[in-house]
Amino acid sequence: MIKIENLSLGFGDKKIFDNLNLDIKKDEITAIIGPSGIGKSSLFLCINQMIRYEKSYNLSGKILYSGIDLTKENENSLTKYRKEIIYVSQHPDILPMSIYENLAFIGRVHKIKNLDKNIQEVLKKVFLFEEIRDRLDLNASSLSGGQQQRLILARALLLNPRVLLLDEPTASLNEELAFKIECMLKEEKRTIVIISHFKNQIDNLTSNIYRL
Ligand SMILES: Nc1ncnc2c1ncn2[C@@H]1O[C@H](COP(=O)(O)OP(=O)(O)O)[C@@H](O)[C@H]1O
Ligand SMILES: [Mg+2]
Repeated sequence: MIKIENLSLGFGDKKIFDNLNLDIKKDEITAIIGPSGIGKSSLFLCINQMIRYEKSYNLSGKILYSGIDLTKENENSLTKYRKEIIYVSQHPDILPMSIYENLAFIGRVHKIKNLDKNIQEVLKKVFLFEEIRDRLDLNASSLSGGQQQRLILARALLLNPRVLLLDEPTASLNEELAFKIECMLKEEKRTIVIISHFKNQIDNLTSNIYRL
């Protein structure tokens, strides 16, 4: 699905990674592990090419998505690819709107059909629906950190992405909830790349593991 060839990234004079090669297989889960600060989140920004908005970055190598080198694509076609490759940040980037609008707004932008039904479905998938069904009109900032983290995961799932890039998606969840999310992700049969520092989580999810 995505093949990364000889990818090197630096910011200014600082080298982050060098000659990285990675094979992300379709409909499988791939895990990225490695110590803090090694460049895992930056790798995700390279994959969806959001890295272009960072100051003084230098990038070489190829990121082949279904054979197309994303590093060579113009902004116009990247807009299309970014709808297929969704990045879920480790910092919940909720919008200053109600819980419902956090999903509905993005859903309308992406012209998602049967919005109400699909919103309910993704909220159930992340085990949030029962918790918040009576306060969908409250501001999303009223949610706890763990609830916000699940809300942005639900938002990503709503868009039915071909590739889901998950940056430490269960970092603010308790062990039981994290396990339930892992089981849900496994059932998705979707191309997922996950950054995680929980060894038991990786073991549960996949044997496709890359260490940075
Ligand atoms: N825009 C940037 N400019 C300069 N340095 C950056 C930038 N973004 C990240 N870095 C640095 O790159 C390194 C890797 O960061 P990051 O990808 O966030 O690591 P990880 O996700 O593995 O913890 C860190 O040293 C970080 O400070
Ligand atoms: Mg990170």
